[in-house]
Amino acid sequence: MPTYRSPAPVFTAPASAPDRGWLLRLVENLGGALGMTRPRPAETASDIAPAPPTASPREAALELLPDPVLLVEAADPNDLSGRRIAFANAAARELLRIPASGALVVSALRQPEMLEAIDESLFGGIESETLYEPRGAQEQIWRVRTVPLPGEGAPTLYGETTRMALVHFRDETDARRAEQMRVDFLANASHELRTPLASLSGFIETLRGHAKDDPEARDQFLRIMTAQAERMARLIDDLMSLSRIELNEHIRPLGSCDLSLAAMDVADTLRPLTADKGVKLDLHLMDRGEAVVAGDRDQITQVVQNLIDNALKYSPAGGAVRVEIVRGLTGDAAFAHGSKALTMANAGGGRLSLLTPDRAEPDDYVLLRVADQGPGMRREHLPRLAERFYRVEGQKSGQKLGTGLGLAIVKHIMNRHRGGMLVESAPTLGSTFAVYFPAAAR
Ligand SMILES: Nc1ncnc2c1ncn2[C@@H]1O[C@H](COP(=O)(O)OP(=O)(O)OP(=O)(O)O)[C@@H](O)[C@H]1O
Ligand SMILES: [Mg+2]
Repeated sequence: MPTYRSPAPVFTAPASAPDRGWLLRLVENLGGALGMTRPRPAETASDIAPAPPTASPREAALELLPDPVLLVEAADPNDLSGRRIAFANAAARELLRIPASGALVVSALRQPEMLEAIDESLFGGIESETLYEPRGAQEQIWRVRTVPLPGEGAPTLYGETTRMALVHFRDETDARRAEQMRVDFLANASHELRTPLASLSGFIETLRGHAKDDPEARDQFLRIMTAQAERMARLIDDLMSLSRIELNEHIRPLGSCDLSLAAMDVADTLRPLTADKGVKLDLHLMDRGEAVVAGDRDQITQVVQNLIDNALKYSPAGGAVRVEIVRGLTGDAAFAHGSKALTMANAGGGRLSLLTPDRAEPDDYVLLRVADQGPGMRREHLPRLAERFYRVEGQKSGQKLGTGLGLAIVKHIMNRHRGGMLVESAPTLGSTFAVYFPAAAR
């Protein structure tokens, strides 16, 4: 913590200021009562310098604001060390690690654009906006507005008037992050689409050129082109379905669905694939009506389909995929069910929740587990599996390259259903994915 020289006081304290912590406590009580949260309460309140006990009602009001606010003052435009912070509210003290008054503006805010904006407000009477990015472990971005305060100044010893400006910080970190995610998503989606498109263009060129009179090559190229076109169509379908799910994610689905029947349907449609690959599908389902969950039938079928599809895709020939349904579990029991976390961890893998539901009442879930004997994954991949377009490199998945959207879709559907999702996997030990849904009211 730097030390600050005490400047000439702007708000003079009465000699008998009884208790310097009163305003802070008032803020804490009022703030709590109003449900206000201070931005990033990283440290305890005792780390933040207390507010001056003599603050005017105006400062007491500023003190209560959840956004950081400063009053800065200066008399002489040429005197850099004369620009001082006359008042910093609790949020500003926490953000900038400064006392309630007296800090030098240059040392509290080291960014030249901000200092310039403050000068413009103080001496040019101009209102302006800048961005403030504190240096620290966590990336933060604040939008800062500086506004001149007319008629606030008091005359100094030399007769000049002190000028004042208000500096208001608004946290834009979340908005920026969301924006960044959107940009990344667009970049990823275009990249994923451009790859098959480039391959298609390449083959068209070849077919027009030297492969024109070679029927064998032509057939082979056309087969590849069909596969690429199908891949593009799949990508677009998945993207559309993801955006449809996201659009309704906050709306709880109506209706109910028998998880066993959904699993049976999916198993039937995948039968040709299992036969092709020589993979056995072991179903341990419940009787009709025993595993009914609250939710949208089509979406639930998609969850089951994506999980079993992955398990088959990554299974070696001759392997088995076990699909199991268990009911009557609490959220915690659903997460812990059948855990081999230690064995997995010892083999370089692990067990991880990809989605945890908020505490639901009644705490009654139906679990669907899909376990395979495939290559499994190392621990570091697990947290990223439900990210869009994430694929574990170097995995054999048969001829069809996946889009990397299957598990992202599962996660969004499970979130809409207020359910949970987890993965357990380790190299050579295979993978188990599980989802659990709130049971339908009986
Ligand atoms: N059962 C599994 N065994 C091993 N790896 C898996 C398994 N399931 C998923 N993965 C890994 O997770 C990645 C993401 O899976 P996801 O289902 O989202 O995409 P995908 O299967 O590649 O594509 P898509 O499902 O869209 O066809 C996969 O690319 C694969 O690397
Ligand atoms: Mg998949």
